[in-house]
Amino acid sequence: MKHDHSPVLPGQGATDYARYMRTDTLLSLQRSPDEAIHRDELLFQVVHQSTELWLKLAAAELAEATAQVSAGRLAVAEAMLVRATLAVRLITDQLEMLRYLSPVDFQAMQPALGNGSGAESPGWRKVQDASRRLGRAFDEQLAVRGVPVNLCPPDLSDPLHRLAEAMVEWDERVSVWRVRHYQVALRIGGHPPAGSPGSPMNMLAKLAEHRFFPELWQARLCRTADE
Ligand code: HEM
Repeated sequence: MKHDHSPVLPGQGATDYARYMRTDTLLSLQRSPDEAIHRDELLFQVVHQSTELWLKLAAAELAEATAQVSAGRLAVAEAMLVRATLAVRLITDQLEMLRYLSPVDFQAMQPALGNGSGAESPGWRKVQDASRRLGRAFDEQLAVRGVPVNLCPPDLSDPLHRLAEAMVEWDERVSVWRVRHYQVALRIGGHPPAGSPGSPMNMLAKLAEHRFFPELWQARLCRTADE
């Protein structure tokens, strides 16, 4: 029997796929060959725009994880956090595409970018805020339960330990993105080299050391009393 593919959903687009995914709008969000001053603008926009989408998902998963922590459902929170972490792994992988952007081509497209910088990414900002909120919710849960953060030895049957491990993993994956992004920025350049005082490269290198949950990194180290 022939399957009926005629659209039934409201909205614009020739098919239900187009209507639901809003592909007409989505695919019009990149500069056309007529508008673009360099053909690699498409590569550049696709990497950035898809990053914004994954970050949107990551922020939503973090927000849900935070709500679950506050409700005391730590195992569910962990599952949500794992999803957010995978989104950050995916945006780290897609930085690879930028290896095909040479410094000279990047420089040629600069006028199209104005004063724009990835540092203004709304998705990144939301993810930062959401991470801090998760940390606060976790601390509140510790206070409610009256337990100190001691993750040594690890007890993977304890949802609190498992969530803490997932939070450390989140921290690490954000840092891995930062390290990879730093290398991309160095490779494509257009900025003073690392080591120049106040250089953006120094700032990026420093940010790679940032942790949202430094106390959890400490709490999982098995220290002896005299350490
Ligand atoms: C051509 C590739 C890229 C270069 C040369 C580059 C360069 C830079 C530089 C120099 C900074 C430091 C701040 C500034 O001077 O504006 C920065 C920050 C930043 N960029 Fe990029 N970037 C690139 C690709 C990306 C991509 C694909 C994203 C994804 C959205 C991104 C997101 C960010 C973020 C979030 C920051 C803030 C740093 C942080 O919080 O760790 N950048 N970038």
